[in-house]
Amino acid sequence: MTHVTHVDGPTDSVTARVPAKVNLQLSVGPLREDGYHDLVTVFHAVSLFDEVTVTSAERTSVIVTGEGGPAVPLGPANLAVRAAAALARATGRRGKAAGQGAGGVRIDIRKRIPVAAGLAGGSADAAAALVACNELWQTGLSVAELTEIGARIGSDVPFSLAGGTAVGLGRGERLTTALVSGSYQWVLAFGAAGLSTPDVYAACDRLRAARRTKDGQPVGVTEPQLSTALMAALRSGDPAAVGPLLTNDLQPAALSMQPLLRRALQAGREHGALGAIVSGSGPTCAFLARSAESARELAVGVTGAGVCRAVVHVSGPVPGASVVQSGAVA
Ligand code: C5P
Repeated sequence: MTHVTHVDGPTDSVTARVPAKVNLQLSVGPLREDGYHDLVTVFHAVSLFDEVTVTSAERTSVIVTGEGGPAVPLGPANLAVRAAAALARATGRRGKAAGQGAGGVRIDIRKRIPVAAGLAGGSADAAAALVACNELWQTGLSVAELTEIGARIGSDVPFSLAGGTAVGLGRGERLTTALVSGSYQWVLAFGAAGLSTPDVYAACDRLRAARRTKDGQPVGVTEPQLSTALMAALRSGDPAAVGPLLTNDLQPAALSMQPLLRRALQAGREHGALGAIVSGSGPTCAFLARSAESARELAVGVTGAGVCRAVVHVSGPVPGASVVQSGAVA
């Protein structure tokens, strides 16, 4: 249960917490004219959280600490800054969040979600900034309105707001809640270096363009379909049914860019994973465990294999971005 502290009087500072995601299914359609791909994906929020605190300030600034902090841009390219500015524009606080005069916002991002890892860390921070600024400025936008603004910042922002388990269509921004029983135990293995999402999609397109049938004809890209078997397995709540049904069309591209990931996936399987998959555009590998106990053993085994930078044990589904503290600055 989330603890929310409300104090009387003006709110100077708001903290929101936001989870990472893994994709249980990631089916990628053909390249669209706008440079995106139509997806059929199943998002699943897991208990690895970033925290974003927004504080009223003269000028807008951003500070990033924690996992991969130095790799996060601090200027207007920062997704949390863009989210705050977009909310300010949408609600008539034009210019203020951009730091012109009083009414800026200091954005403090404490990262545990690695950067460029296929876990939607940047989108998560944008979602947390939207939720936190909505509270700080008392702008009163609904989740649906925040979702509309968030979708323009990044394809995964709507899911970072929603959390849980959801089917994503379009760029991944059109969401429907999925019916899921129980809780799933995961081990996430972080890669040594990040992967750029556009680069992985581009590699996926190149690999597909090179595919040929036996008689040398190009193999077309079919429209993605939701896996009804995966949805039924999720409803059953049985991780042993879910594990073999995890799929990711971006995995061959991620593996072509970081061949060592094959060894990480293999290590997970050898140490009892029910399913082993690259998360999103990678390079994080996600391993589904039978129970919390086997997740701990899996984490020790994968760590011992020495094929990744760090390993964490998480569970899902968990809720999306939410305010955890709100009050006057001490
Ligand atoms: O929406 P977002 O900015 O997170 O997407 C980053 C990049 O990932 C896009 O510029 C595009 O290259 C790729 N992408 C895609 N199809 C999607 C989502 C992302 O090709 N559905």
